[in-house]
Amino acid sequence: MQLLDNIAALRNTITHWRQQGLRIGFVPTMGNLHQGHLALVKTAQQHCDKVIVSIFVNPMQFDNASDLTAYPRTLAQDCTQLESLADAVFTPTSELMYPSGQQQHTRVTVPGIADVLEGVLRPGHFDGVSTVVCKLFNLVQPDVAYFGEKDYQQLALIRTMVKDLNMPIDIIGLPTVRDSNGLALSSRNGYLTPNELKLAPELAASMRHIAKEMTAGKSDMTALANQASAHLNSLGFRTDSIDIVDADTLGPINEHSQAVVILMAAFLGKARLIDNQVVPL
Ligand code: PAJ
Repeated sequence: MQLLDNIAALRNTITHWRQQGLRIGFVPTMGNLHQGHLALVKTAQQHCDKVIVSIFVNPMQFDNASDLTAYPRTLAQDCTQLESLADAVFTPTSELMYPSGQQQHTRVTVPGIADVLEGVLRPGHFDGVSTVVCKLFNLVQPDVAYFGEKDYQQLALIRTMVKDLNMPIDIIGLPTVRDSNGLALSSRNGYLTPNELKLAPELAASMRHIAKEMTAGKSDMTALANQASAHLNSLGFRTDSIDIVDADTLGPINEHSQAVVILMAAFLGKARLIDNQVVPL
């Protein structure tokens, strides 16, 4: 596996692969890799001739300075995990990605998707994501890129950006990888104490409960969300948001909706956990 820490080396490798007509798969990450990330890399390995992973903790998408500082950085461990799965890992610094500072002149913003749901709670977050992913796409020039459904709104944002800007890249979304107790794997689970870790699967459990009630015909979404929120708060969570929206548009459910998505965000101790589940109608 090649370690690429500068743009010239990256471009060299990519040009070499392109000259051979190879299909390039790309998995952008912020590192601290777990089985959720590795599932994306393994799928890329099956579909593509060459797989490149980026590890970059993108300051532009953090709405809180202490969250950025605390974000786990485990590069050596990450590279060991990738060794037999990826052909190259790109590990730029902030200075390399943002030579003119984070307030660079050009930004990519996806109005509509970036301004609702998580976008309201985390102002600027999705502009940071779309801008950095656009930059990474221009650097890596992949044929196909892999994202997790765990970050449902992020996946919708990237799909919209690629479509609107005619980027010649296939976007593949893959299912959320969970612990055997149902907890969605996340780098932020590392912030949980042993007791909080025992409690954390309740987030997914209450989401499954909402899904079951909906499938059984309950249609008062506000009541379902309020009940789940009260239940989680009684257990020790601090619910940030529970939204039940159209799975395609992320807008209100209407008579054309074919599926809904339950989007949950809740604090548990120092961690803000997110999860989601799609329910066909
Ligand atoms: P990060 O949180 O490191 O996630 C990298 C990719 O792994 C994302 O596509 C995310 O949805 C996926 N992922 C995380 N947990 C997962 C799980 N349990 N199951 C399946 N996939 C999972 O998302 C980001 O980084 C950044 O916003 C990024 C896209 C790299 C831009 O900076």
